Amino acid sequence: MRAALRTRVLTDYEAMSAAAADVVASKLREKPHAVFMIPTGTTPLGMYRGLVERHEREGLSFALATFFNLDEYLGLPPDHPASYHVYMRENFYGLVDVDPGRVHVPDGAAPDPEAECERYERAIRAAGGVDLCVLGIGRNGHIGFNEPGASFDSRTRVVRLAESTRRVNATDFEGERAPERAISVGMRTISDSREVLLLASGTNKARAVAAAVGGEVSEEVPASALRLHPNVTLLLDRDAASDLGGSASKEGRA
Ligand code: GLP
Repeated sequence: MRAALRTRVLTDYEAMSAAAADVVASKLREKPHAVFMIPTGTTPLGMYRGLVERHEREGLSFALATFFNLDEYLGLPPDHPASYHVYMRENFYGLVDVDPGRVHVPDGAAPDPEAECERYERAIRAAGGVDLCVLGIGRNGHIGFNEPGASFDSRTRVVRLAESTRRVNATDFEGERAPERAISVGMRTISDSREVLLLASGTNKARAVAAAVGGEVSEEVPASALRLHPNVTLLLDRDAASDLGGSASKEGRA
């Protein structure tokens, strides 16, 4: 079945980030033991800031919730400044009351990466599956590190990054290209989530968003797989929605 994607277009990055923090906070209130899958990148930074603020101001607690990150670069130890372990500690996990025993980031430095992928997939299942998966989107339509061509049936595994992704992510590596490989949850791991929220901001995401929403459902555009999922919301700022045409200029279904 192909569901229409629910799209909410917000004025700007700040509004999009506040709306994303609202979705996470209401999920937590409704289910304090919820299981979240969450992204890295520049896009979710505002959402994390919003959640940290609510923790500090309103006492929003994350202590009972479980978190799984989407991905990590292969070969980076958890203390490498460009690792997603460090990103998550600095922007979220280290700033709120998460239970360290309920926080999971793939170990990019695991001696046996294949075994690490299987362990990760098992941990997700043991937690009862994901209640809310929050995603960013790459300029080529990738979600997590599932690059164009990733099988919709894939599970957590070692993946090769697209050259374009390595160039875009070079900013985290002092101008060097990003590593060639990563551990990423799979397309099926993502689509097994009970609810998905995809965040996109800025004109450099507009084409990928339009391809995901209005192009063919195809493994060449990983985010288009979300059209096969019954409970997905796209939270976009106006710039990211700018290739969607007039119908998506307000909240509605695209
Ligand atoms: C990275 C991450 C993705 C992220 C995407 C977009 O490579 N692996 O999970 O959604 O690229 O990043 P940004 O938000 O910085 O544009």
